[in-house]
Amino acid sequence: MSTLLTNIGELVTNAPEDDSSPAGPGPFAAIADAALVIDTGRVAWTGPAARAPAADDIVDARGRAVLPGFVDSHAHLVFGGERGGEFAARMAGLPYRAGGISGTVAATRAASDDQLRGNLRALAAEMLSQGTTTFECKSGYGLTVTAEARSVALAAEVTPEVTYLGAHVVPPEFGTDPAGYVDLVCGPMLAACAPHARWVDAFCERGAFGADEASAVLAAGQAAGLQPRLHANQLGNGPGVQLAVAAGAASADHCTYLTPADVAALASSTTVATLLPGVEFSTRQPYPDARRLLAAGVTVAIATDCNPGSCFTSSMPFCVALAVREMHMTTQEAVWAATAGGARALRRTDVGHLRVGARADLVLLSAPSHAYLAYRPGVPLAAAVWRAGELVA
Ligand code: NIG
Ligand code: FE
Repeated sequence: MSTLLTNIGELVTNAPEDDSSPAGPGPFAAIADAALVIDTGRVAWTGPAARAPAADDIVDARGRAVLPGFVDSHAHLVFGGERGGEFAARMAGLPYRAGGISGTVAATRAASDDQLRGNLRALAAEMLSQGTTTFECKSGYGLTVTAEARSVALAAEVTPEVTYLGAHVVPPEFGTDPAGYVDLVCGPMLAACAPHARWVDAFCERGAFGADEASAVLAAGQAAGLQPRLHANQLGNGPGVQLAVAAGAASADHCTYLTPADVAALASSTTVATLLPGVEFSTRQPYPDARRLLAAGVTVAIATDCNPGSCFTSSMPFCVALAVREMHMTTQEAVWAATAGGARALRRTDVGHLRVGARADLVLLSAPSHAYLAYRPGVPLAAAVWRAGELVA
C-alpha cells in the first residue's frame, strides 16, 4: 500500500538532490511544488509534483509545507507532581535552582506506576500532536535502585531512546555522602537500569555532580553498554562540555555558558551542542550563543528539555520560534536543528530527513513554508502527522 502526498508547497527534506551520501540527514534542503511517496513505512520517492509516480492512495497537501517529524533529543517525562508554584515564584523574581528537583523526586517516588505511566503517555501524545515523531526520555526523578529502574522501564514503553540519569542530583538520604550515592549510581542502580536504556547521562553542574563524579558515571555506563550524553554548562561555566567531548558523548546539552576552549572542543568533535531555549525562557537565564557555535562549525540541535522544573513545554515549534527570535538562528537553521540536528544528537540516520529510505515521519503544516513555525509563534500549525508511514495525528 503506497501513498502519494502531492501539491506540497515546500517539502523540507534535509537532503540536497545532488548529494549522494548513503544515509542520514544532510544540510537544510527543500523542494518547491513537491510530492513524496510513502511505501511500507518508508520514504520511497521525493521530487517535483509534476514528475510524481502513481500510488495506491493520494493526499492533496493543497500548497502547504511538509517537514520531517521533529526529533526531540532531550526530555524528562517520567515524573510525579508539578512545580507551577515554583515557576510563578521565579517569574516574581526568585532564581532557578537545581534543588527544586528534589520536590519532584518525592512526588515521583510516591506516585503509582499507573500515575507515572498516564502522565508520561499524555506528554508523549502532546508531543506527537505537535509533530514530534522521535523523542528521548530520561529517568532521574526516582534516584533509588527500584525507582530509577521503574522510570527507565516506563520510558522504554514509549520510546527506544531511553536515558539513564541516576546522576541527576544527590537525593536527600545521601546528603552527607555524595560519594556513596555515586557508587550506587555506578553499581546496583546502573545494573538495574542498563537493560532498559540506550544512553547514560549526568547533570554536571555546581550543586549537582562535579567533573570526576560525572566522568565516573559516564565511564560506568559505557562499560555497561550505554552511550554517553551530558547535561553541561547550564547554570554557569564548568567542566561539562569538555568532559562530554572527551567521553565521545553524542551530545552536550544546554551549553548556555561556554568559554572559547569549550567552543573549540565542540568544533573539533562529533559531539552535538543541544540547545534548550525553552529553559532560558522559563528560568530567565541568558540564551546560549547559537551564532557563535554555528560560526565555529559546531553541529547544533534544538530540543525541549520538557520537565516539570526548568521548562514545562513539549512543543518543538515553540522552541524553533525561540531559536529564531531569541538565538538569532535563521528559520532554516532552526528547523534543521529541530529535525536533522536532533537525529545527529541521537546518532540516528533513519529520521530527521526525508531521503529515499528514511522512516516516513512527516509533519504537514497548515502553512505554506517552514518559516511559519517562527512567524506564527504559539499557533498550532501541525495539521497532520505521520510516523513510519502511518497517520497518527
Ligand atoms: O535539564 N538540568 C537538570 N535537569 C533539568 C531540570 C530538572 C528540574 O528542574 O526538575 C534540566 O533543566
Ligand atoms: Fe534536562
